[in-house]
Amino acid sequence: MSKSSTSKFMAMKGAGYYSKATIGAKHVMDNAAGMILEAIDRMNLTDDGSVFRATDMGAADGGTSIDLWRRVLGEVRKQVPGRPIEMIYTDLPRNDFSQVFQIVHGLTDINSYLDEIPGIHVMTSGTSFHDLIVPGETLDLGFSATASHYIASLPCNITNHVHMVGATGKEREAYEQKGAEDWETMLTRRADELKPGGALCLFNFGIDEEGRYLGNTGGVSMFDTFSEIWENLVDDGTITRQEFLDTNFPQCYRTTEQFVTPLNDKNSPVYQAGLRLEHVESRVVRCPFEQDYTKNHKDPVKFAEEYIPTLRSWSEPTFVNGLSNDRNAEEKSQIIDDFYGRYQSLVAKAPEGHAMDYVHIYLVCSKVL
Ligand SMILES: C[S@@+](CC[C@H](N)C(=O)[O-])C[C@H]1O[C@@H](n2cnc3c(N)ncnc32)[C@H](O)[C@@H]1O
Repeated sequence: MSKSSTSKFMAMKGAGYYSKATIGAKHVMDNAAGMILEAIDRMNLTDDGSVFRATDMGAADGGTSIDLWRRVLGEVRKQVPGRPIEMIYTDLPRNDFSQVFQIVHGLTDINSYLDEIPGIHVMTSGTSFHDLIVPGETLDLGFSATASHYIASLPCNITNHVHMVGATGKEREAYEQKGAEDWETMLTRRADELKPGGALCLFNFGIDEEGRYLGNTGGVSMFDTFSEIWENLVDDGTITRQEFLDTNFPQCYRTTEQFVTPLNDKNSPVYQAGLRLEHVESRVVRCPFEQDYTKNHKDPVKFAEEYIPTLRSWSEPTFVNGLSNDRNAEEKSQIIDDFYGRYQSLVAKAPEGHAMDYVHIYLVCSKVL
């Protein structure tokens, strides 16, 4: 039996596909690195020779965060030149960790920080962020981007959609409830791990004050499009109704209020474990592929060709998972190619409004001294 229920989900598409296709997630981190640098300043680090330990939770292949860590670990090195730095990349057990090693050790075309900053010891962990990743009170800086929306298990199938943003009634409530439980668990585990005075910086997918979320910022809704095309495959007999029902993103998008509730409620386990909210804000980071299309090349076919891989890099495992195990790998792969091919044709024919704009709620917390 696996320890963590999350581990049964597939991770991002491996073999380096994730970082190549997901430049927008990199922009999200690069634009907000200043929040982490400010948190480090507030920590008043002492150069006492002890290990400075950092985690990048849900790091995928580690490529998108490489420039953020160059800045953050460079600053730590400057402030405390005598402390060894332990940098731990974490993700689910099925993550392609070999890519993390290749990227961080400079074996790909991504420029790593490792040779530039002395005294860094890189490690990985396959422990879910819903569990304790490092021993209690040994963590200086916990970080996670675009990962905490993954819930540990599905509360139910969604009848008319593939994502909780399209769920209604009791189904929507079940996802929000599971989202609240997992969020509380994730924060409590981090509060346990952090040293007093340590910092936790989380850049989370969420729903902003205007109701916007990933791929839903006023144009064509990305999750509705996923759902409609998947349903078309039911209509023409390519997949079964049961397969549609079994296709559910294991995710919960939370509102800012839902994010801050356990941090502000004095009776919550999170607050009682000493975690305090220092900063919260929401931001929209525009889809780089749509921006390049509208501002530069204006070629819908090129836009569609570049846009679909970014969707595919993180959504494909969910659609593969929904397919019956009676199908062989080749059959599954044909269905999945057909599905994304239909999405690509749709965008190429009518590109207006398609964009995977990123909507994040940024939180910076600290553990009380
Ligand atoms: C969209 S990717 C984000 C990758 C990277 N942080 C970024 O911002 O580009 C989400 C990652 O979170 C991981 N993930 C999901 N649930 C997790 C969990 N419970 N514990 C650790 N990682 C998890 C997934 O496997 C995936 O690699």
